[in-house]
Amino acid sequence: MNIKSVLAASTAVMLAGPVMAEPTVEVLHWWTSGSEAQSVAVLQEQFKAEGGTWTDMPVAGGGGDAAMTALRARVLSGNAPTAVQLKGPAIQEWYEETGLADISAVAEENNWADVLPAQIAEHMKCEGQWCAAPVNVHRVNWLWGNKQILDDNGIEMPTTWDEFNAAAEKLQAAGITPLAHGGQSWQDATIFETVVLGLGGPEFFQKALIDLDPEALNSDTMKQVFDEMRIIRGYVDDNFSGRDWNLATAMVMNGEAAFQIMGDWAKGEFLAAGKEPGTDFVCAQTPGTGFLYNVDSFAFFELDGEEKQQGQALLAKLIMGPEFQKTFNLNKGSIPARTDIALDDFDSCAVESNKAMTAGAQNGSLLPSFAHGMALRGAQAGAITDVVTAHFNSDMSSDDAVQQLVDAVANSM
Ligand code: BGC
Repeated sequence: MNIKSVLAASTAVMLAGPVMAEPTVEVLHWWTSGSEAQSVAVLQEQFKAEGGTWTDMPVAGGGGDAAMTALRARVLSGNAPTAVQLKGPAIQEWYEETGLADISAVAEENNWADVLPAQIAEHMKCEGQWCAAPVNVHRVNWLWGNKQILDDNGIEMPTTWDEFNAAAEKLQAAGITPLAHGGQSWQDATIFETVVLGLGGPEFFQKALIDLDPEALNSDTMKQVFDEMRIIRGYVDDNFSGRDWNLATAMVMNGEAAFQIMGDWAKGEFLAAGKEPGTDFVCAQTPGTGFLYNVDSFAFFELDGEEKQQGQALLAKLIMGPEFQKTFNLNKGSIPARTDIALDDFDSCAVESNKAMTAGAQNGSLLPSFAHGMALRGAQAGAITDVVTAHFNSDMSSDDAVQQLVDAVANSM
């Protein structure tokens, strides 16, 4: 460098004032379907608009199993990402294992405690400090239907599992695949938990899938749940194995199947394809009552480097920003985690979701989703999911499934 350019460079630094670190994040997440990518892009844009640099690390695979495997590999190799999509008890598990960045300063400055439901705020804390930022509330126990198919066949959205079975038989007799399903273990577990809630009721769900009460696990009700799972297995098409959830949603959209049981991220796909609730598709809670919640959130590893720490603080702040919570959730199919966002621009299913959540909080039927990692630690959730999937993909009897469930849970403790 000659003297002239050295001087020019130092003048540039002087003009720019003190050098500030540029907020930087690398974000590991599993939002790769059309509507998911559209949703996370909102965050990325806001982050960049604030002068930040975003490195995207998407790991395909609905439900996040592959993302969690990728995360573990990154952490074990000493290369943890700055931010990760993490939720439920996994937040506290990672905190215990590696520590997580304390984002209490951001949370307090922006009054998170005042705008989050207490139950959600609790999930975001590690030993009293804020260690995660929530983006939304997804409801898991939703049944999606193709309006045209249902109308053509004189079928109402079922409110009991018997009604569901009757509707499915009718559709099958008419040559229509009743249920679009993707045979991946987390999707099997998603159906399973809605059946547990529907047949057993909220109290049974609490005992069986949250408290892991041996009596509830080893009950006639649980046997009935597996009976219903066997019936449901008969309603899916031959190519269900390994299918991604959004492809199952597309089957309902395109009239290749009548129903899908899936959380309201499925609605994100309908909306992204320009489909209207009530006109093209219908939403109803899966047979039964209650609200299985699934809150997506982000946590941050404790890393050196001012630019990374600033990136984490900025990301946490943006995630809980009112504007982001609205735009993101309009795309994602969920409702905002913040309670102070008006839902005027949201569709009827979202409004219904919000009503059910409020009612659930009052009557004790607002319950964390087991299938989406909100209720149990990884080992227990994994043990249950393995049995559910093994049963769904074999001719295992309900009695054997119940026994395996009891054993698997006991062994996972
Ligand atoms: C997540 C959703 C996501 C879905 C499918 C769920 O566990 O909470 O945000 O859209 O998995 O990938």
